[in-house]
Amino acid sequence: MALESIQSKKVAILGYGNQGRAHAANLRDCGVEVLVGARETGRAWGKAIEDGFLPVSFSKAVREADVVMFLLPDTAISTAYAQLESELSSGPKWVGFAHGFSFQFGQLKPLPTVQFFLVAPKGAGSVLRARFCSGEGLPTVFAVAAGSTEATRHIAESYARAIARGTSFLKETTFQIETEGDLFAEQVVLVGGVMELMRNAFQTLVENGHPPEMAFFDTCQELTATLDLFINAGPSGMLAKISPTALYGAATRGPRVVPPETRATMQLVFDEIRSGAFARELQSAGEAALEKARSKESGSLWDKTYLGLKPYLESAK
Ligand SMILES: NC(=O)c1ccc[n+]([C@@H]2O[C@H](COP(=O)([O-])OP(=O)(O)OC[C@H]3O[C@@H](n4cnc5c(N)ncnc54)[C@H](OP(=O)(O)O)[C@@H]3O)[C@@H](O)[C@H]2O)c1
Repeated sequence: MALESIQSKKVAILGYGNQGRAHAANLRDCGVEVLVGARETGRAWGKAIEDGFLPVSFSKAVREADVVMFLLPDTAISTAYAQLESELSSGPKWVGFAHGFSFQFGQLKPLPTVQFFLVAPKGAGSVLRARFCSGEGLPTVFAVAAGSTEATRHIAESYARAIARGTSFLKETTFQIETEGDLFAEQVVLVGGVMELMRNAFQTLVENGHPPEMAFFDTCQELTATLDLFINAGPSGMLAKISPTALYGAATRGPRVVPPETRATMQLVFDEIRSGAFARELQSAGEAALEKARSKESGSLWDKTYLGLKPYLESAK
């Protein structure tokens, strides 16, 4: 499919952060008319001007656009959407997200004028932009709400094709699959699981007399090589390529570190996501809880060790 469906529409990008900046630039470079919506008081406003956009208020952007992409923090989307109800009701609008959180957990009031869609790149905005510029594109999925029109599917697909130009991985999914998969993966593997494993392993070596720098290389830095090997060779290929010592140690000790009971915990975590309990908990957690989580490692030995090694880590990749 070509890009006409999205090129014939005016697109409002609400929020000019990690994703917003990349979506706006990629769409503009594909010949799409882009209107950036931002808060005059925030950093986004100035950044948009630096990049050659003329930002306007959220309400002006929504009034003027056909397609409205909400690229705000997930916890802020439902409030912004509710505040924009009269603009969203002023005519037919396609309302999109880069993550299905607000839609999937019923935080958005359906409006007769609004059709919902999702376009979720599999990575950060800076990577999305860099891959667009290099011509490789970034794997991206898209979805439409149940009962959507064919026109909505065309909008979603052509939007995805535009921002991920060059990718050979563009797949249709559902709001449920994208939202549950994304939340579950970041909680148990990508952030929650990996950070806990690395920190505990680092601390164990240090408590047993290893210099922190050595412990950091052994338990954290070498993960990049392991992941490269895994992605290049797959599970069985990786086991075939590692040393007999690593193979035997992993086979006998790995399941002790991540015992079968962990699966039961994963199921509980998944159940909290599917039931909406996690979404409700996050929504009521507040900025103080987020700030506490954000600053958890600042000043820790783990963090200080990283900062001391930073100049060498790039060259060790
Ligand atoms: N980051 C990723 O790797 C990634 C990947 C795929 C999908 N996504 C999804 O993309 C969406 C946007 O995430 P992001 O990482 O791009 O967010 P972000 O970098 O934090 O940017 C958020 C933007 O929203 C504005 N903003 C912040 N708080 C606001 C509020 N309370 N009300 C109105 N505007 C507010 C900020 O502007 P100011 O300067 O005015 O504060 C900023 O422009 C989310 O749905 C996320 O799940 C993210």
